[in-house]
Amino acid sequence: MEMKIGVIKGDGIGPEIVDEAMKVLDRVAEVYGHSLSYTQLLMGGASIDVNGVPLTDETLAAAKESDAVLMGSIGGDAKTSPWYKLEPSKRPEAGLLSLRKGLNLFANLRPAVLYSELKGACPLKEEIAEKGFDMMIMRELTGGLYFGKRSTEKENGMLVARDELTYSEEEIRRIAKRGFDIAMKRRKKVTSVDKANVLDSSRLWRKVVEEVAEDYPEVKLEHMLVDNCAMQLVKDPAQFDVILTENMFGDILSDEASMVTGSIGMLASASLNETKFGLYEPSGGSAPDIAGKGIANPIATILSAAMMLRYSFDLDREADAIENAVERVLQDGYRTVDIMSEGMTQIGTKEMGDRICSYIG
Ligand code: NAD
Ligand code: IPM
Ligand code: MN
Repeated sequence: MEMKIGVIKGDGIGPEIVDEAMKVLDRVAEVYGHSLSYTQLLMGGASIDVNGVPLTDETLAAAKESDAVLMGSIGGDAKTSPWYKLEPSKRPEAGLLSLRKGLNLFANLRPAVLYSELKGACPLKEEIAEKGFDMMIMRELTGGLYFGKRSTEKENGMLVARDELTYSEEEIRRIAKRGFDIAMKRRKKVTSVDKANVLDSSRLWRKVVEEVAEDYPEVKLEHMLVDNCAMQLVKDPAQFDVILTENMFGDILSDEASMVTGSIGMLASASLNETKFGLYEPSGGSAPDIAGKGIANPIATILSAAMMLRYSFDLDREADAIENAVERVLQDGYRTVDIMSEGMTQIGTKEMGDRICSYIG
């Protein structure tokens, strides 16, 4: 198969982890006889440095031209980076939001899985880690607080800031359908997470999710308030199959879920629209604190590349090969520092990529 992949290496650890994911994709292409072409695209801080803005129209157009986009993370240290002297709409994160919106990537899939090999890196009690867990967080990605009207104005002599949270029935329905479709291929349980005891947007969310559920009689639906969900994730993560939630709740809960898998460096993600196109990126950030040190965990990005093969190209066998290779390297006891535990062997970013490649084919 021919695959035209847009690559946004990004900022901080972005280029280090994307290089390893490309290495793994190249290995898959070699072993399974596919042809890959990469187009490098600039977004985030790297684009500000060159173009003065975090996302140009040309880059958005080039992303649309690709079959899929592989991305590292963007952004810098808010205290020290010059990017944060710019007005908010010109900062790195604004580029990411425009890209998500511009490509209509409303469905963000973040699989949080505790590999049995990583039980030692899980911060939960042993009996909870022992049970393991495998959940898919379905985060709505182009609505809610992230895309509402914002303002900061002086009122009665003091500054007042506003961020509007809006959801339409249609926005809720399409992500809910995706959530139920995915649940049908998994353990057939959806936990819809909201704050319906306080927010109107959440009450509408609950109503629409219940309507969608009628078309999926085999799927068990439960509703959970977001504060309870945050607690349940550390109390009993094994109870979750698909967590379906709005943009901001999904952002926060997915970072929490990532840590119970051992590290944010393990959490892959796929952002999808109604077509086969997708943007694949680790869920974590550009980690300015460890950038350039060669110690970042590339596994989330490598697993995101596997999701790309699965969702954008229907290459399940190749995606399985990557996921199995990751498990085998973990079985061998190799760990980047973020998932290190007693008796394991610590390795860097590149060696992790090399070892994963060595188990493909
Ligand atoms: P972060 O996720 O970058 O880092 C939080 C902690 O996790 C840090 O200690 C970091 O070293 C560690 N970490 C993250 N990824 C890791 C990896 N692959 N391997 C090992 N350790 C890893 O979050 P932050 O510090 O709050 O944000 C830093 C910047 O990243 C900000 O500019 C933020 O806006 C941006 N960000 C971007 C994305 C994205 O591009 N999708 C996601 C989240 C944050
Ligand atoms: C993520 C990130 C982004 C988000 C930021 C960088 C805008 O935290 O992808 O989880 O909040 O969606
Ligand atoms: Mn986040």
